[in-house]
Amino acid sequence: MLGKRSLKNCSLQLTCFILILLNVYLVLFSKQSQCPNVVERLRRNVVKAQKTGDNNETTKTHSSLTMNTSSQPEDISEMTPSQHPGPFHQIGDSDIWIYSAFYEPVKQGVDAPMIRALGVAMRNLSGLALSCHVTYEDRSVTTVSGRLRAALDHHHKSYSASFLYCPVTGTRKPSFVAFSLNKHETPGHEFQVMFPASKRERTFTVCYSVIYGNYDRYSMLLQSITYNRMMGAEHFFLYNQTMGPRADAVVRHFQDLGIMTVLSMPEFPANEAWYHSQIMAINDCIYRNRNISQFVAVVDPDEFIMPVQHHSWGEVLKAVTDREIKEKRGENVGVFAFEHSMFCNNRLNNTEWATFKKNFQLSDEEGKFIERNDITTLLELRRSNLVRFPVRSKCIYRPEVTRQPGIHYVRSLWSGYRNVVVNSSLGIIGHYKNRKGDCFLDHKIIWFYKKYLKALKSSYANVQAYLLNRSISTTNFQIYSNPEAKQRPITKA
Ligand SMILES: *[C@@H]1O[C@H](CO)[C@@H](O)[C@H](O)[C@H]1NC(C)=O
Ligand SMILES: *[C@@H]1O[C@H](CO)[C@@H](O)[C@H](O)[C@H]1NC(C)=O
Ligand SMILES: *[C@@H]1O[C@H](CO)[C@@H](O)[C@H](O)[C@H]1NC(C)=O
Ligand SMILES: *[C@@H]1O[C@H](CO)[C@@H](O)[C@H](O)[C@H]1NC(C)=O
Ligand SMILES: *[C@@H]1O[C@H](CO)[C@@H](O)[C@H](O)[C@H]1NC(C)=O
Ligand SMILES: *[C@@H]1O[C@H](CO)[C@@H](O)[C@H](O)[C@H]1NC(C)=O
Ligand SMILES: *[C@@H]1O[C@H](CO)[C@@H](O)[C@H](O)[C@H]1NC(C)=O
Ligand SMILES: *[C@@H]1O[C@H](CO)[C@@H](O)[C@H](O)[C@H]1NC(C)=O
Repeated sequence: MLGKRSLKNCSLQLTCFILILLNVYLVLFSKQSQCPNVVERLRRNVVKAQKTGDNNETTKTHSSLTMNTSSQPEDISEMTPSQHPGPFHQIGDSDIWIYSAFYEPVKQGVDAPMIRALGVAMRNLSGLALSCHVTYEDRSVTTVSGRLRAALDHHHKSYSASFLYCPVTGTRKPSFVAFSLNKHETPGHEFQVMFPASKRERTFTVCYSVIYGNYDRYSMLLQSITYNRMMGAEHFFLYNQTMGPRADAVVRHFQDLGIMTVLSMPEFPANEAWYHSQIMAINDCIYRNRNISQFVAVVDPDEFIMPVQHHSWGEVLKAVTDREIKEKRGENVGVFAFEHSMFCNNRLNNTEWATFKKNFQLSDEEGKFIERNDITTLLELRRSNLVRFPVRSKCIYRPEVTRQPGIHYVRSLWSGYRNVVVNSSLGIIGHYKNRKGDCFLDHKIIWFYKKYLKALKSSYANVQAYLLNRSISTTNFQIYSNPEAKQRPITKA
């Protein structure tokens, strides 16, 4: 609702202001957010349907007619979420396309267990009842009535990121789910149902959402990955629509290291919904990371979550949580929202650059490295004032307690958890988007430059080695790697 476009569309400043207030209100004060109501309504509908016979639960043995068992993995529990194929599958001939399916366990004994499938659908189909064909662990198949709901964040496009909720029994584990428009129709593609991980493997994961338009800012991408790893990120997710050859090589390098998962995001139907289905991708990424990652940061490659007083994201979140506890608001923080500051492309002139190098004790070699690789965070030191939450803010989520994440702020949390706007004295979002504007010099935001430079040198050297290894021509890359920089292999996450 609060994207660039809707803001532009606001004819009156006042309307925007009211919109923002309304959204802040929704996030901060509606503890009984809209999802419980959806689930409650869904449950009532299912009960009603069962009473009228509309939803006769038919249990049959698994048949090869509806499912090709030989193409199924032997042991589902051995499949990690990233192995899931991912692309969209249409339900019948409808305008509903499903991308992935997740198990939603009972939370705090309140909500019924369900399968929550994720996809893109014509928005006016929200509310539609559909059939879910659920295959349980024991291979029995049950058909139940599910309901489609448009995501809360839809930007008034005719297609929207959508959820398909199917109630399931709490006693057995659903393994697969397929969908049809009604129970008599043959179900379509079988989706593996993804569960929260049984074991925590990392503290921070980064979701880059959708990369499109032959994105090829490989140097920015490499800087972003390097910076985020320095801050604590251990794994990256990226939804690939199209990218240029250089970004592709950088991505493949990190895939080879086992720290990046790439999922495909075909133009159709993804581009029917707001911003290449970014909202669906963010939801998908948060759900995939449930329990496997304690926190998930949702940012673009040109957005940097910058601590102001600390040296890592972990320290910032701890400081925020400590303050919440100290000020008696409790430690039940589900989302940490960072306010936004745009960095400006009016770079340092030669005199200023020389002074900067001197003050920051950068060698000529380091200066060359920064300039030739276009190390944005060290070249663009002017920034604009902060814009207040939730405009352009970005968040770090706790995936298990997030119902519906959004592009700029959370749309719905499980009850009992709160959104906290991080005080800008602790951290901000630095956005490097080549903007001109009313900017002031801010040196203190790059306190991390020495450590960052060291990490960058090794990142660039490693990418260069990767290119050489794959016999990919480096001429288009213009990577300037300090020949003396020790090439340290990046350790696997
Ligand atoms: C529901 O299914 C059962 C078993 O297939 C059948 O005996 C029963 O008549 C069905 N009820 C309705 C209302 O269709
Ligand atoms: C089942 O899937 C396997 C592997 O994908 C394929 O070789 C086989 O032909 C399929 N069988 C049927 C009946 O579709
Ligand atoms: C939804 O909107 C589309 C396009 O505007 C229209 O063709 C379709 O009939 C509508 N469907 C429903 C169920 O209203
Ligand atoms: C989440 O991970 C923790 C620690 O690794 C584990 O004890 C817990 O059972 C997991 N939760 C679920 C729902 O599997
Ligand atoms: C990204 O998607 C494009 C278009 O489908 C494909 O050509 C390319 O190989 C993909 N890159 C990666 C790293 O998956
Ligand atoms: C560089 O910028 C400074 C202001 O920060 C200004 O005083 C100086 O004249 C500029 N030098 C050149 C060569 O433009
Ligand atoms: C942010 O933190 C500063 C310094 O601790 C404090 O003075 C200020 O009141 C805080 N702002 C808000 C909005 O809490
Ligand atoms: C390329 O890397 C592989 C391991 O990833 C290594 O075994 C091989 O020797 C390397 N090749 C060259 C030409 O460096």
